[in-house]
Amino acid sequence: MSKESIKLDRLPKHIAIIMDGNGRWAKEKGKFRVFGHQNGVKAVREVSEGCAELGVECLTLYAFSTENWNRPKMEVNALMTLLVKTIKGETATLMKNGIKLDAIGDRSTLPKDCLSQLDEAIEATKNNTRMTLILALSYSAKWDIVNATKTIAERAKNGEIELEEIDEELINQTLTTHKYPHPELMIRTSGELRISNFLLWEIAYSELYFTTVLWPDYRKEHLYEAILDYQSRERRFGKTSEQLA
Ligand code: IPE
Ligand code: IPE
Ligand code: MG
Repeated sequence: MSKESIKLDRLPKHIAIIMDGNGRWAKEKGKFRVFGHQNGVKAVREVSEGCAELGVECLTLYAFSTENWNRPKMEVNALMTLLVKTIKGETATLMKNGIKLDAIGDRSTLPKDCLSQLDEAIEATKNNTRMTLILALSYSAKWDIVNATKTIAERAKNGEIELEEIDEELINQTLTTHKYPHPELMIRTSGELRISNFLLWEIAYSELYFTTVLWPDYRKEHLYEAILDYQSRERRFGKTSEQLA
């Protein structure tokens, strides 16, 4: 499985990743869970760089879910601290690689220092055009769908839109993911076979790829493997194979 086998004219424009397995990785080594999160940063760097080098336009990383607030307070605090530190530490690398940072999720629940560091990095990288890295922070797909529904209902109530105007396109535009194409490929590490409330609407027709590699061990070659697997699939969108030929 090598980078050279990847067909650059058939790259997914958008890859979404559920970065999972940090806790188990640490446990295997007899360390605290936080050690796993700290070591996951290298994988984030590898994958972002790998995607940018290939020419993938968007990469969305699931970094913290709405449900993750229910973890022990100590782990939540450690994750938020790591987040601030990483965003600060990685801004120079994002600049070097021409990567623009963005975020989706419930900003109102993020700690102040986290939010200001995030906004600072988003502002600093806003003119980069090679790739966009979207962090899903305090995000869940159901949260996004509920909010979009409220927005649409409000607009209908105010007479700004007619019921007939509520269609797929309007829902697309109302979700926090509206700026980006829907991911063609979604990857989950660590062997878990579920979506865990990540981009539900947006992955309606995504190709799903699961690997048992734990997130801190994830490297560019694993990304290449996933992309090659994606390129071997036939995306039929309801049609028959014969129709596609
Ligand atoms: C993923 O690793 C990182 C976050 C959810 C923040 P986990 O912390 O879920 O690791 P496991 O699944 O317990 O091994
Ligand atoms: C999903 O991982 C969330 C992130 C990767 C940020 P979890 O490890 O929290 O998912 P579940 O709870 O095991 O499904
Ligand atoms: Mg997990």
